[in-house]
Amino acid sequence: MTQVKLTTLTTKGGCGCKIGPSDLREVLHNLPERKKDPNLLVGLDTGDDAGVYKLTDDLAIVQTLDFFTPIVDDPYDFGQVAAANALSDVYAMGGTPITALNIVAFPIFNLDKDILTEILKGASDKVQEAGCNLVGGHSIDDQEPKFGLSVTGTIHPDRIRTNAGAKPGDKLILTKPIGVGISTTALKRGLLSKKEIERVTRVMATLNKEAAEVMNDYEVHACTDVTGFGLLGHLSEMAAESHQALTIYRDDVPVLSRVRELAEEGVVPGGSKNNLKHVQDVVHFADRLDDIDQIILADAVTSGGLLMSVPEEEADRMIEALEAKGIDAHIIGDVSDGEAGHIYVK
Ligand code: CO
Ligand code: CO
Ligand code: CO
Repeated sequence: MTQVKLTTLTTKGGCGCKIGPSDLREVLHNLPERKKDPNLLVGLDTGDDAGVYKLTDDLAIVQTLDFFTPIVDDPYDFGQVAAANALSDVYAMGGTPITALNIVAFPIFNLDKDILTEILKGASDKVQEAGCNLVGGHSIDDQEPKFGLSVTGTIHPDRIRTNAGAKPGDKLILTKPIGVGISTTALKRGLLSKKEIERVTRVMATLNKEAAEVMNDYEVHACTDVTGFGLLGHLSEMAAESHQALTIYRDDVPVLSRVRELAEEGVVPGGSKNNLKHVQDVVHFADRLDDIDQIILADAVTSGGLLMSVPEEEADRMIEALEAKGIDAHIIGDVSDGEAGHIYVK
């Protein structure tokens, strides 16, 4: 197989190539209103990770899809990351993935076909690890490679986790470190060591399966996964949908190593700058936090962890249960006093 650095074939990578929330709102704004099917439990109108449709009183399906340009150079790793990311939206809703379809765009006449085989192999291994079944897909010839999956899962209609249920006094738990956008921008520019590449790849390729299994054993009021809109973006969606104020403590938020140093050198993806701009009216930073702190907290994540709002009395036990599964989970803040829909960073 001819070695090609996949990230050189694209201008943006991973969830960083997501169209921003304000542009998206503008586009969706003028779509016709449709009569709502009562069995559609979670649809377009909330900022949730996936749609949920009730089939029977005790069975609903969760549907989602995600695809993006290469975020790492190794094709097998890219397949793994894209699959873990696509599966994550089912986990974030509390569902169990059952089937998946590949979405493929690939310059089939210009790139070695073995590269595509490796991407699909990485994805297939991840889908299998999730206990999910690959059932097909669709591929097109495209100059810029893109890959992802559409995933369907099952869920009990009474046990759906959305980002709308956070309650006063809850603790906020995050199950993966942030700084992924800055790290992968550095990767693309050849600034990461082999060990650093392995570390960020492992973080992105880790399934949220076990974190979701722990979550499903506890009373969790709200959940989402942290991806392209960054930690602050996903927090602000949770704050708005839950009509609560959220406080996070910068020093408690886990960040990948060297991210601060890289951000100080200007290694910041455009998507992360847009994320910060997008939340500026609802996020209040303590005076001691500088521009670098702010951009790191807004940094676009690919295949990030679960962000959960949990009753205070459950939080410590949940952290123990997550750590017992080898998950680097942290309490990063709480549902606090303040203006509903706003985020306070201390
Ligand atoms: Co999501
Ligand atoms: Co999503
Ligand atoms: Co998604």
